[in-house]
Amino acid sequence: MDGPGCTAVIGLQWGDEGKGKLVDLLSHEHDVVVRYNGGANAGHTVVVGGERFALHLVPSGILAGGVKTVIGNGVVVDPARLLEEIGALASRGVDVDGRLWVSDRAHVVLDYHKSEDGLREELLRTGLAGERVGVGTSQEIGTTLRGIGPCYADKVTRATGVRMGDLLRPDVLRRKVELACRLKRALFEGLASSAHVDWDRFDADEVVRVALERGERLRGMITDTVYLLHESLGSGARVLFEGANATLLDVDHGTYPFVTSSNSSVLGIGPGTGVPGHRVGRVVGVLKAYSTRVGGGPMPTELEDATGERIRERGREYGTTTGRPRRVGWLDLVALRYACMINGVTELAVMLLDVLAGFETLRVCTGYRVGGRVTDRFVPDAADLGRVEPVYEDLPGFGEEITSVTTREGLPEGAASYLEKIEGFLGVPVRVVSVGPDRSQTIRVSSDGGAS
Ligand code: IMP
Repeated sequence: MDGPGCTAVIGLQWGDEGKGKLVDLLSHEHDVVVRYNGGANAGHTVVVGGERFALHLVPSGILAGGVKTVIGNGVVVDPARLLEEIGALASRGVDVDGRLWVSDRAHVVLDYHKSEDGLREELLRTGLAGERVGVGTSQEIGTTLRGIGPCYADKVTRATGVRMGDLLRPDVLRRKVELACRLKRALFEGLASSAHVDWDRFDADEVVRVALERGERLRGMITDTVYLLHESLGSGARVLFEGANATLLDVDHGTYPFVTSSNSSVLGIGPGTGVPGHRVGRVVGVLKAYSTRVGGGPMPTELEDATGERIRERGREYGTTTGRPRRVGWLDLVALRYACMINGVTELAVMLLDVLAGFETLRVCTGYRVGGRVTDRFVPDAADLGRVEPVYEDLPGFGEEITSVTTREGLPEGAASYLEKIEGFLGVPVRVVSVGPDRSQTIRVSSDGGAS
């Protein structure tokens, strides 16, 4: 079996596009849902029957009965958070037994990674590490402090990378953790004399004890997910790959260095699951009807005024993972066309269109002005992107609320022409329009143009 049965759902902006809702909708048409990158930095909110579920590690597909879910080898897993999430799901009647599998090769986020994340951010903030890049320049990434970067760093540094399978191999685990603790202590004792460091988190005996205990509780789920996925594909299963964190945060193709530490575009599927990317025939690109970003880094269309504030309040733009207010801006079609290109997007889902009701004019960015010249090419490097000025096209808005609209034809003219602009500029059809948080507040458009 090839292509058509496999789908990817990918965020096209800086995250929080509403991928959780989309995965939840599409899960019913698939047999297996797989996470392949990131960790508990992601936060997918799904509202089912008025009940709100916030998922960080467990694939959103878990909320669809009968669907198997897989945390692939490219994910970094914090066992404490995973256990917490499993417990929270169980308490609300969602049983993960026999439905959730975790790769034995997924790397483990340990408590010292979280301390290291905070410490690195503090060093960047205070400029201690900034001497080489310009004194007084804060280089802070604004991470979610979930230990993501340090865990991926250990993975590629190799000797100190702990994998889920190691939680079931006490001797291997101990060797790696002892080495990691020695190295990290030496590094941070030299650098962080004034910073608050919880040195208990670097105590190898304690780290090993806790990790083994958590590993034991997860034992039944830890497996070779590469074989599991290929066997499922071999028996005709339809697999849905659930991207986390989104394209412009991709470590290679995003706004580096203000990115996350994994390949969060569709390009991460191969390395993050062991399933070659060419098996994915359908790539659903998810975008918000406007832009948001959390943390540092350039955002050409950012609105730091009353309009931005109004969008933030209407869209309840506060992080699912950290609660931070999100930065808000107009839709950036230049960035989106780049995201469609590198992901090979075959269809679009436009989320939160209802948030834009009531604005007289809607602006979309169709070019960047750089040194007196206008370009329609995205410039992913943060230093270059920080210098561009957006070129806008103004479109008529729509006054009426659209939260009860159920067909594309039922949308007011301003909303309809906004969608047409997006489709025309990106050259990709819109198949889903979300007009509210609930599953039912979704307009689906079939490939012949009608509602489905
Ligand atoms: P990290 O992934 O915690 O290292 O954070 C790196 C950057 O990515 C920070 O700017 C975070 O705010 C951002 N980030 C990571 N995951 C997400 C997400 O799921 N949504 C939005 N921003 C994210």
